[in-house]
Amino acid sequence: MTATTIASTPVRQSQLRPAIAELQPHLVEWRRHLHAQPELAFQEYLTAEFISRKLKKWGIEHQTGIAKTGIVAIIDSGVPGPVLGIRADMDALPIQEENQASYRSQNPGKMHACGHDGHTTIALATAFYLSQNRHSFKGIVKIIFQPAEEGPGGAKPMIEAGVLKNPDVDAMIGLHLWNVLPLGTVGVRSGALMAATEGFRCTIFGKGGHGAMPHQTVDSILIASQIVTSLQTIVARNVSPLDSAVVTVGEFHAGTAVNVIADTAKIGGTVRYFNPALRDMLPQRLEQIISGICSSHGAKYDLNYWRLYPPVVNDAKMADLVRSVAETVVETPAGIVPECQTMGGEDMSFFLEEVPGCYFFLGSANLSMNLAYPHHHPRFDFDETALGMGVEIFVRCVEKFCI
Ligand code: NI
Repeated sequence: MTATTIASTPVRQSQLRPAIAELQPHLVEWRRHLHAQPELAFQEYLTAEFISRKLKKWGIEHQTGIAKTGIVAIIDSGVPGPVLGIRADMDALPIQEENQASYRSQNPGKMHACGHDGHTTIALATAFYLSQNRHSFKGIVKIIFQPAEEGPGGAKPMIEAGVLKNPDVDAMIGLHLWNVLPLGTVGVRSGALMAATEGFRCTIFGKGGHGAMPHQTVDSILIASQIVTSLQTIVARNVSPLDSAVVTVGEFHAGTAVNVIADTAKIGGTVRYFNPALRDMLPQRLEQIISGICSSHGAKYDLNYWRLYPPVVNDAKMADLVRSVAETVVETPAGIVPECQTMGGEDMSFFLEEVPGCYFFLGSANLSMNLAYPHHHPRFDFDETALGMGVEIFVRCVEKFCI
């Protein structure tokens, strides 16, 4: 089916669900089209072209090429009122898809393994619906199609390019399809939802030598090993037990032969936390431990620490808005899951640092259809019924916020 076959007569609010049911085959078609042509961070050219073509066809004002491939669509009700931003990410991952579905990735080594094809589809359909029903809200809805969520991050350059200005965005919402939760549930909470994501790499410079003569060396592997174990004391002994944080060493490279004491060792890892008050303490403790252990053994070190994304922190009022809307969509309070925090990161956080908002998880797993593989897995896929639910939540949020 083509977009032109979509009913273009405006519908009343009470008719929202039938209207979305009518859209559902298109949602599936668009999502599968995007799924088959995944593009990596800041290379979402065909994806952006697909979005822009549709927006143009529907007469929706939009700007392309923001932060390389980003798009902002403006849907103006024509009546003064608030400005709500809706954000969708567009990028895929460098993963070889193992699914055999007809819509599987046609790009070797690239895959929509996180559901961003679904996010783009939901936002696109929301834009379509709102453009056809401008009487159903006041003010303006800005739909932000963002590149590179998987890193290095497209949210920040889009904000720097001014997407939250002119007209100024009052609040933001966004969603992630979530295979951690079953279809028919929504993970929503106020406060911290996703963790700050930071990383480090450290080279320890010892003094290499013969494996039989350790007294003549400074063993970089032994020192790095002590550092790895001691780093765990940061979470165990410096972070309040009521706060969540995790330090993971995911890289350890050293040595070339069994009978040689290694001159240098390299370790690298990630640091994650919810509470912004931990922001300075964690890297400080990390360096104190590395520096203290190195100096006690006569080694030197070179530490590189970087901050990727801040924590995703939801505004209480906006979380209430999303929760109340989601309750009507899932039709049971039991379908709302407040215990949905994850130590994963998301650059939606940059938007939520600028304006109040709510990021939430839309349950998309369906075990009976074998659609429950975790995100970033080569067999990840989700129940496409969630697409329509996403559109309904976004539209109802607009109708409730933009009054
Ligand atoms: Ni994702």
